[in-house]
Amino acid sequence: MSAQVKEQVAKENKELLAKGITPGLAVILVGNDPASRVYVNNKKKACEFVGFKSEEFALPATTTQEELLSLVEELNERRDINGILCQLPLPKGLDENAVIEAISPLKDVDAFHKQNVGRIMIGDYDFLPCTPAGIMEMLRAYDIDADGKNCVVIGRSNIVGKPMGMLLLHENGTVTICHSHTKNLSEITSKADILVAAIGKAKFVTADMVKDGAVVIDVGMNRDENGKLCGDVDFENVKEKCSYITPVPGGVGPMTIATLMKNTLKAAKLQNNL
Ligand code: GUN
Repeated sequence: MSAQVKEQVAKENKELLAKGITPGLAVILVGNDPASRVYVNNKKKACEFVGFKSEEFALPATTTQEELLSLVEELNERRDINGILCQLPLPKGLDENAVIEAISPLKDVDAFHKQNVGRIMIGDYDFLPCTPAGIMEMLRAYDIDADGKNCVVIGRSNIVGKPMGMLLLHENGTVTICHSHTKNLSEITSKADILVAAIGKAKFVTADMVKDGAVVIDVGMNRDENGKLCGDVDFENVKEKCSYITPVPGGVGPMTIATLMKNTLKAAKLQNNL
């Protein structure tokens, strides 16, 4: 499915290329988090696939807030850069919110800027955050309608949990967002028709927490006790109980990147009045 989305972006991009416009994505990576390095490499690869220019700014963990903000300012001004993303998390001592706020809302292809977050809240937006939007695209492709369903999101991050809840609400889901202070978590999750796990804990969601026939979306990217990549869901046991489940790796992650390509194409079109 992610390949289909990227192919569609590549096809639409040909029209821009024919007009002499090459969409440009700036990717900022600060420090040396190995997982972030993998994500950034995958984003660059996707740009190559669809025919965008990507420019990487790999900065040392010792980068100061001022240096980072001045790079963002420079990229805001550049005509050949249509999208700017700063891979999160940032090393300790750097202020993520200030960096997100410094990115021009028109180039904010992650849709993390408060102006874009506000627009999503009222349903009048140009960009949707990549992970929740990629998940909605998967649901649509499988004809899974959130309308009137019990939708439970575990996790309340600004990147996934909160916007995920909002997008499910836009589709008329009855949304519950659970988090570390939630009481009787299993009681709530076991009523979910659509369950989204975005907690960051290996195999946290076990079969007893899942309703028969539920749709289970796993946003987690963790290492299990043997160092093997795994999600927030105990896939082997939960898959016997649910109707649909996304694997890790190879599920939500590739859809996130495909959505980033869609957003970058849209940014390039908007900035060129197309
Ligand atoms: N870190 C985890 N997910 C994301 C994402 O979608 N965008 C950025 N910039 N950083 C992330």
